[in-house]
Amino acid sequence: MAITLSTLTELKQRGEKFTCLTAYDSTFAHLASSAGVETLLVGDSLGNVLQGHDSTVPVSLEDMIYHTQCVKRGNQGALIIADLPFMTYATAEQLYSSSAALMRAGAQVVKLEGGGWLLDSVPRLAGCGVPVCIHLGLTPQSVNKFGGFKVQGRDPAARRALVQDAVAAEKAGAALLLFECIPADLMEEIMDRVSVPVIGIGAGPAPDAQVLVMHDMLGATPRKPPRFVKNFLAEGDGSITGAFGAYIDAVKKGRFPGPEHGFD
Ligand code: KIV
Repeated sequence: MAITLSTLTELKQRGEKFTCLTAYDSTFAHLASSAGVETLLVGDSLGNVLQGHDSTVPVSLEDMIYHTQCVKRGNQGALIIADLPFMTYATAEQLYSSSAALMRAGAQVVKLEGGGWLLDSVPRLAGCGVPVCIHLGLTPQSVNKFGGFKVQGRDPAARRALVQDAVAAEKAGAALLLFECIPADLMEEIMDRVSVPVIGIGAGPAPDAQVLVMHDMLGATPRKPPRFVKNFLAEGDGSITGAFGAYIDAVKKGRFPGPEHGFD
């Protein structure tokens, strides 16, 4: 049965965790969705993972359209979320045309990075039938503003701002929220303040779902992986499908992420 936003809401209401993995091609989209991963993220992390860049900034809308089309062809019923890449939603006109292109390519939800300034975009898109996921915390498209890939929300003002952004994003009509690299206790506080499904990465165990970059969780990375990554290939029967199954099991049973994968 195809997963929809309503399915995710039902899972949240039942207190059942769900999973998300990045996917960039048809074969891995097929394997992950067949294994039971509920949501596939066509992440602009493809700039790092597939294209070898040191950030997601060089990724174009054309790249995202191509990979969303590939994932759509292989997908077996997971909900497809696709990233609007850097500077393709800076104006209202860009926002509409970029989102339309990703939805036509097969996305069912578009993900935008940032709070405050872009929250006007959420009702605009929702009004056109485009569900939105707002990505907060460490937003990799802003790496040059942050001065590196750093944990966000550690000082009191930044904590307050993140809580406010989360509440405002939900009020603006965001269908999903995603938090990357924030302290686990801040994530807990935010979970008490919002009711839409929340996906986390490096945000502790509190979110309704976890996401990992697929290559990272298969140990297919030339660099030392970040602290929040776990290699699930070693956990399963040694097969890729086994790794996906081990990931799903660990998230649903609350065994992943552990304290060693989170931040204070
Ligand atoms: O692009 C991506 O893969 C992402 C995840 C790391 C959340 O945004």
